[in-house]
Amino acid sequence: MGADHAVRVARRTAGAELVAVSDTDPGRAEAVANPLGGVRVIPDAAELIADPKVDAVLIASSAVAHEEQVLACIEQAKYTLCEKPLTLDRASALRVVDAEAAFGRRLIQVGFMRRFDPEYVRMKTLLDSGRFGRLLMMHNVHRNKQSPEWFQTEYIVRDSLVHEVDIARFLFGEEIVEINVLTPTPTSAVTGLLDPQLAIFRMSGGAIVNTEVFVNAQVGYEVRCEAVAERGTITIGQPSGGVYTTGVGGTWGGEIPDDYLVRFQHAYDHEVQAWVDACRDDEVIGPSTWDGYAATAVCEAGMESLRTGRPVRVML
Ligand SMILES: NC(=O)c1ccc[n+]([C@@H]2O[C@H](COP(=O)([O-])OP(=O)(O)OC[C@H]3O[C@@H](n4cnc5c(N)ncnc54)[C@H](O)[C@@H]3O)[C@@H](O)[C@H]2O)c1
Repeated sequence: MGADHAVRVARRTAGAELVAVSDTDPGRAEAVANPLGGVRVIPDAAELIADPKVDAVLIASSAVAHEEQVLACIEQAKYTLCEKPLTLDRASALRVVDAEAAFGRRLIQVGFMRRFDPEYVRMKTLLDSGRFGRLLMMHNVHRNKQSPEWFQTEYIVRDSLVHEVDIARFLFGEEIVEINVLTPTPTSAVTGLLDPQLAIFRMSGGAIVNTEVFVNAQVGYEVRCEAVAERGTITIGQPSGGVYTTGVGGTWGGEIPDDYLVRFQHAYDHEVQAWVDACRDDEVIGPSTWDGYAATAVCEAGMESLRTGRPVRVML
């Protein structure tokens, strides 16, 4: 994700210059920096954050490193876009919320990029227009072709479902008060992973959101969302939005992208451009540390639901 963002900042974002990259694996940092030319590699992330030539920081390190790095950015008063999840547990996420509050104003945007995806943005505008009446239910599908070998059952909640946690909170403008994560008989495509999963959220206004997450669906990357309101439904993520092809045997159809970097390319572009524009205006927009904390808290409850087989209340 960091390599993709580095190219985005260097080549596709107006008003920003990529001056330095950092990674605990120097080979990875150099592989990103060298082709871009003139980009420094600073091995120590804390040194990069404190560097006077660095005005703003995009964190795309492993989630376990986020807390320390975000806190360093707050200490150095640097505008920061931190990839999701903000941190891995609610206690550390709350420490970040508190540190930013103590600083006195917002510095951090959390990388829930779906809020910048043109289709989700259109859905939000339609829902907020009032034309469809109150939102009652939402059905989500979130499928990957395959998961990395190190992926564990709980990561499906923590790393994948976290996107639907945020988008549900964003589209409803409400908190999630309960989560239940169910596991059908798992796919035989992998061993040792409870995949797929079906998560059910209860929103604070009483609505229900269900999400299928299937990270070894074998086909490609599919993210769909259907909002069910009092006077109609809105569906996004249909392949009809993409390119149609014909094939041997007279078949025709749209294309399913392999991964999120293709499906959400415009969301990432809009997210980073909006972040850079806001930094230059001395503003912070988009998902806040509170949004990051809330998503982490819901996922922590979701992982408890996975373990216990019961719905778990979420207290923020
Ligand atoms: N928004 C999205 O759609 C999306 C998609 C993919 C990944 N992500 C997020 O981006 C982050 C990175 O994910 P990834 O898939 O690129 O993982 P990855 O493991 O491929 O890359 C993480 C990199 O961070 C480096 N790293 C680890 N600890 C570090 C530290 N303390 N300081 C500096 N570098 C460190 C690792 O060496 C590695 O190169 C995660 O938080 C992940 O959830 C978000």
